[in-house]
Amino acid sequence: MPDMLCSLASLPDVTGLLASLRGEGISIRRPNPWEASAVRRFVLGHFTEGWADELQVAFAHQPVTAFIAVRDKEIVGFAAYECTRRNYFGPTGVADEWRGKGIGKALFVAALMGLQDLGYAYAVIGDAGPVEFYRKAVGAIPIPIGDGRGIYSLADDPKFLSR
Ligand SMILES: CC(C)(COP(=O)(O)OP(=O)(O)OC[C@H]1O[C@@H](n2cnc3c(N)ncnc32)[C@H](O)[C@@H]1OP(=O)(O)O)[C@@H](O)C(=O)NCCC(=O)NCCS
Repeated sequence: MPDMLCSLASLPDVTGLLASLRGEGISIRRPNPWEASAVRRFVLGHFTEGWADELQVAFAHQPVTAFIAVRDKEIVGFAAYECTRRNYFGPTGVADEWRGKGIGKALFVAALMGLQDLGYAYAVIGDAGPVEFYRKAVGAIPIPIGDGRGIYSLADDPKFLSR
C-alpha cells in the first residue's frame, strides 16, 4: 500500500456534510483527554493494537491530534494525525455498521484541517489502504518514490542508511 500526498491549500467544504451527520445524531469532534481509554478500546475492538498504539501519540499533544465520531455517547469512528510521523494523517477507521454515511470523509477532512493549523502545506497519508477513498475525498495521489512503502519498510534509522 503506497503512501499518498495531498495538498492542504484548499480542502473540500464539509459544512453541509457535518450538518447532515449532526441531523443523524452523529457529531465529529476532538476526543477529550479523559476519553483516551474509551477511544483506545474502540480502536482495539474494531481495528489493531498497532493503531491503538499510534493513537497514544495523539493524546500526548495539546490539543489532541485526533477526531472521533460519536453517536449516542458511543464512538463510531476515529481519525488521528501527527502520530506516525510529523505531518502524517492516520490511522483512521469507522465501525463497519456506520460506513458509507460520510463519517470517514468528515473525520479525514477534520484531521487535514488540524494539519493545516499546524502550518503544513501538504500532508502524507501513511500506508494508504483505500487509495480511491483518499483520491475521491481530496485528490490525494500515491507518492511514486522507492518501493512505495516509505517508512514502513525501513530496516534501520534513515540517518544510518547509505544511499
Ligand atoms: C476507509 C473508511 C475510513 C471510509 O469510511 P466511510 O465512513 O465508509 O467513508 P465515507 O462514507 O465518508 O465515504 C466517502 C466517499 O468515499 C467512498 N469510499 C469509502 N470507502 C471507500 C473505499 N474503501 N474505496 C473507495 N471508495 C470508498 C464512498 O463511497 C464515498 O463516496 P461518495 O462521496 O461518492 O459517496 C472505512 O471504510 C474504514 O474504516 N475502513 C477500514 C479501515 C481503513 O482501511 N482505514 C484506512 C487505513 S489507511
